[in-house]
Amino acid sequence: MTGGFPWAKVRAALAGWFARCARSLPWRDDPRPYHVLVSEFMLQQTRVQAVLQPYAAFLRRFSTLEALALAPQEQVLQAWSGLGYYRRARMLHAAARAMHEAGGIPAGAAELQQLPGIGPYTAGAIASIAFNQPAAIVDGNIERVFARWLRLEEDIRAAGTRKKLWQLAGDWVEHGNVEGLAPRALNQALMELGAVVCTPRAPRCGECPVRAHCRGRDVAESLPRLPPRKTPRLARYAAALVRDGRGRVLLVRRPEGDRTSLLPAALWELPHVKAGRGWPAGALEALLGAVCKATGKTHTRRHSIMDWSITLCAREVRCEKAPRPALEHAWFTPARARSAAQSSATTKLLQAAGL
Ligand code: ADE
Repeated sequence: MTGGFPWAKVRAALAGWFARCARSLPWRDDPRPYHVLVSEFMLQQTRVQAVLQPYAAFLRRFSTLEALALAPQEQVLQAWSGLGYYRRARMLHAAARAMHEAGGIPAGAAELQQLPGIGPYTAGAIASIAFNQPAAIVDGNIERVFARWLRLEEDIRAAGTRKKLWQLAGDWVEHGNVEGLAPRALNQALMELGAVVCTPRAPRCGECPVRAHCRGRDVAESLPRLPPRKTPRLARYAAALVRDGRGRVLLVRRPEGDRTSLLPAALWELPHVKAGRGWPAGALEALLGAVCKATGKTHTRRHSIMDWSITLCAREVRCEKAPRPALEHAWFTPARARSAAQSSATTKLLQAAGL
């Protein structure tokens, strides 16, 4: 697959380009282990631009591993608001507690991988960026860069191909280390090329520092080959916007592990139930513990979770007497509702309803 590919030349060219052209990013300019740990959890499902501001705010709030480890979970989730995928915040918190107890952040990818929420990619990224260890990383960007350089025409997600890519990524950083190139620069140079030059669409091949060696340049945009997308499963939920006499809105919180909704549990959300075509008045009354009436227009938003395409419908609902949901619940002013720890589905619905 890689016979004759001039790896050492490519490494030297890419490392030189990275030294000249890399974006200044806070976890890159100041790669203290705790900072890199936080950045890698945030970057797991979120783009660099969307991470910058919450990253700075989170580090102001929890400036050390100890501060994070000792904080109550509620505060950690609160500080995560705006990033979504709160499971990452819980995992980061659990990992921070374990590391704090064990005396600090381990430097090796194998030890890092034993911790909650740290898979092979995050472990390799922390080990290489924070500790300059020659640890392999493969993410979507790096898959794409290797697939194009080597003109890999096979399904990039097939188990055999993934194994080869991890092997290549290991060789990349280990051989580069022997050649005198820093693992933290080598890995971030691959990420950077994938993020700013070797982009999924309209790659800037003219600006690529290794274009002379790229075997896939003439077909770059068609690589990597991905398996066809599955058709999504469909679901529909009806949510109640209940207000009290002071204009506050009722939010509920299902317990951790609750599976009555596809939306993530243990976050503040509008009371909602599964719905068919019509408005499920009876099910909402049962949930709210009060006789109620839906009024006004329906606010509808689409939301995807895993392989589900979800239609979310919210309506103002008036209750005859104060609702008494069996779930944990509280009344929020619109401003507090917006900043409560919530899933992006809830944010969408609150925005749709003008909150
Ligand atoms: N994506 C994942 N980790 C990253 C990092 N350290 N820098 C930029 N983008 C990333």
